[in-house]
Amino acid sequence: MLGRRELLGVATGAGILAAGATPARAWSLFSGDKPPAVALKPLTAPRNAKYDGGRPLTDEREVTTYNNYYEFGMSKSVYDAAAALKTDPWSIELAGMVKTPRTVGFDDLMKQMKLEERVYRHRCVEAWAMTVPWVGFPLADLVKLAEPLGSATFVKFTTLADPKTMPGLRQSWYPWPYTEGLTMQEAMNELTFLSVGMYGKTIPPQDGAPIRLTVPWKYGFKSVKSIVKVEFTDEQPKTFWQQLQDSEYGFWANVNPAVPHPRWSQAEERLLGSGESVPTKIWNGYGEFVASMYADKTKERLFA
Ligand code: MTE
Repeated sequence: MLGRRELLGVATGAGILAAGATPARAWSLFSGDKPPAVALKPLTAPRNAKYDGGRPLTDEREVTTYNNYYEFGMSKSVYDAAAALKTDPWSIELAGMVKTPRTVGFDDLMKQMKLEERVYRHRCVEAWAMTVPWVGFPLADLVKLAEPLGSATFVKFTTLADPKTMPGLRQSWYPWPYTEGLTMQEAMNELTFLSVGMYGKTIPPQDGAPIRLTVPWKYGFKSVKSIVKVEFTDEQPKTFWQQLQDSEYGFWANVNPAVPHPRWSQAEERLLGSGESVPTKIWNGYGEFVASMYADKTKERLFA
C-alpha cells in the first residue's frame, strides 16, 4: 500500500521497491527475535465447521510479525511499536442512524455476544495471503444490538487514532483516522465477522486488538483494526484509502484475479510462511456466499 506522497513520487521509494522486488521469502521478516511480550489472554470458542478456510493454517508467528498497521508505521514489522496500544478500557460508539446512539464497553459487549471460531482466508491487495483461525461473532449481531433505523443503508467504521501511542499519525498526509465502510447488506452477510481473538487467544495489538473487522472476500484493507466507532448512515462513506487515491483503492474492493492493481497483478497470491504462489480466486473463493449481492450492480467498479 502506498500513500499520496509515494503516489506523487516525492517519497524515498522504499515502499515501491518493497512491492516489486521481493525475493522468494523476503516477506517473512521475522528474524528469530521474539515479538514483544504483550499479555494475551486465552480465548477459545467452538469452531464453526462451515468456515474451514480450505487451506492449511498460516503459522501464527508469520501472521503476528508481518502486518499492515499504518498508525504504527509503514514497515511490516510493527509488532514492537504496536505493543504501545492501550486496549483496556475500550469502548465502541454506536452512532448515526440508530434508535438510540450510545457507547458500549468492550467487556460489556463480550458478555452479550456468542463467540465462535472461523477459519478464513485473508487476501491483501499487495498479493500476499494468509489463513487464520479467528474468534469472534457476526457483525450482524452487533448491528442488531445497535438497532439501526430502516433508512440506514451503509455502515461506517472508525478506528483508534491516538497520537500519544501511534507514531504513524505524524504522517500528516494520511487522512486519519483510518475508516472503512460496507453496505448494510454486506454488513448483514453471514461471512462478515468481528474478530476479538485469533489462534485461541485475544488478538495481539499489531493484528488489531481488541476488535477488528474480517471481510474475507474483499482486499485486506477493508478489514479495519481496533474499531472505536460503528456509524449507520444513508450515504456511502468515503474511506481512508479512497480519500488517498480513489482510482486505486475503491469502495467495493472485492477480490478479482482478472482486475490488476496498478502495482500488483492480482492473478496469484503468495502464501505467508511457505512463500508458495497460488492462483487467486474471484471473491477470494467466497462467491457462493457473496456474489449474489452484486448481481444488480453492473455499473459499479466492484473489484478495485
Ligand atoms: N486497520 C487499520 N486501523 N490500520 C491499517 O493500517 N491495514 C489494513 C487492514 N486494517 C490497516 C487496517 C491492511 S492494508 C491489511 S492487509 C490488513 O489490515 C492486515 O491485517 P494483518 O496485519 O492482521 O495481517
